[in-house]
Amino acid sequence: MKSLTITQPDDWHLHLRDGAALADVLPHTARTFARAIIMPNLKPPVTTVALASAYRQRILDAMDAAMRAGKLATGTRFEPLMTLYLTDNTSADEIAKARDSGFVHAVKYYPAGATTNSDAGVSSLERAFPALEAMEKHDLPLLIHGEVTDPRTDLFDRERLFVESQLQTIVSRFPGLRVVAEHITTREAAQFVEQARPGVAATITVHHLLYNRGAIFQGGIRPHFYCLPVLKREEHRLALVAAATSGSPKFFLGTDSAPHPRDLKEHACGCAGVFSAPAALELYAEVFDYEGKIYFLEGFSSHHGADFYRLPRNTAKVTLVKEAWTLPAEFSFGGGTVVPLRAGEQVGWRMA
Ligand code: DOR
Ligand code: ZN
Repeated sequence: MKSLTITQPDDWHLHLRDGAALADVLPHTARTFARAIIMPNLKPPVTTVALASAYRQRILDAMDAAMRAGKLATGTRFEPLMTLYLTDNTSADEIAKARDSGFVHAVKYYPAGATTNSDAGVSSLERAFPALEAMEKHDLPLLIHGEVTDPRTDLFDRERLFVESQLQTIVSRFPGLRVVAEHITTREAAQFVEQARPGVAATITVHHLLYNRGAIFQGGIRPHFYCLPVLKREEHRLALVAAATSGSPKFFLGTDSAPHPRDLKEHACGCAGVFSAPAALELYAEVFDYEGKIYFLEGFSSHHGADFYRLPRNTAKVTLVKEAWTLPAEFSFGGGTVVPLRAGEQVGWRMA
C-alpha cells in the first residue's frame, strides 16, 4: 500500500509544556491530531479545575497565535482534553467539579518521585482511595504512570512490579473505574491489560514500539532515547508491537511526546523524555506497515481511544503516503532548541 486515508487521529497522552515552549511545540501536534489528552505535570502541577481551565485557555491562545504567525493553517482545529494531577489531598469535591467542567477528561496518577515533576504526586496508593472512589462514582478515568518508586528496585523492573503490586489492586478494588495504563513498556503490562476487565486500557508510545534499550547505548550514550518508563529489552518491544497491531480496542495511540531543551538532555544528569510529536503518526505508520498491519492503524490511532473516553470519533480524514523524507535535526523550543525522535534521519511515511 502506497497511501492510506484514515479518520483524523487523537493523541491520548501528550506533554505540551507551558509559556514560550508551549507555543513552539503545539503546532507539531495540532497539524496532525484533532485532540490530545494534556498531561498536568507542569510547575506547579495542574491540581485543580481552576488551574486546568487557565492552562486550557493558554493552549487555545497559543493555537490562535500559531495560526496568526503562519505556523499552522488558518482554521486548524485542536481540542485540548485536560487532566488533573492527583495528589494525596485531591478531594472528592474537586473530582465532582472536574466531571461537571466538561473539559477535564481524566485524572493522572504519578507515584511521587516516579518521573519529571512528580514530587507532588501520590505518596502511597491508599492516600488516593477517596479520590479514586469519587472518580469511580463520577465516571472520570484514571491515567496511571505505572512504576514503583522504591530506589532499591531495578529501574528496568519498576513497571512489572507496579503491575503486580498496585495496578491489580486499583482495577479490582474499584471495579467501575475506567483505567488507562499509560505508555506501557513491558510484556507483563500488555498481558495484564489484555486480560483485564472491560474499562481497562493502555496507551503505547511510538518510541517503545520502534526501539529497545539498546538504542540508549548504541555506540555511546544517547540521551535523546532516555525516557520514563525507560526502553526495555527486545522481547518487551515485540510484545508491545503485537498488542498495538492486534486490533484490540484496549490499546490506543499516546505519544508521550515530552520535549526538553537540548542542553538539559545532553547533560551530566539529562532529563527524561522523547520528543516524538513532529513525526508521530508517520512513525506509527512505519511500525504498522512493517508488521503488515497497516489496516489496523486507524483503529489504534483514531477509534479505540475516542471510544474508551466516550467521545465522538473525528469526522475529518488525513492521508499518509509511503514516501521517505528527512526530519530536521532540531526545532525551536522556548528560546532554545529541542531534538526530535529521528532527528536528521529518514521517516518512511509522510502526511499528504
Ligand atoms: O520520559 C518522560 N518524560 N516520562 C514521563 O513520565 C514524564 C515526561 C516528561 O514530562 O518529561
Ligand atoms: Zn507522559
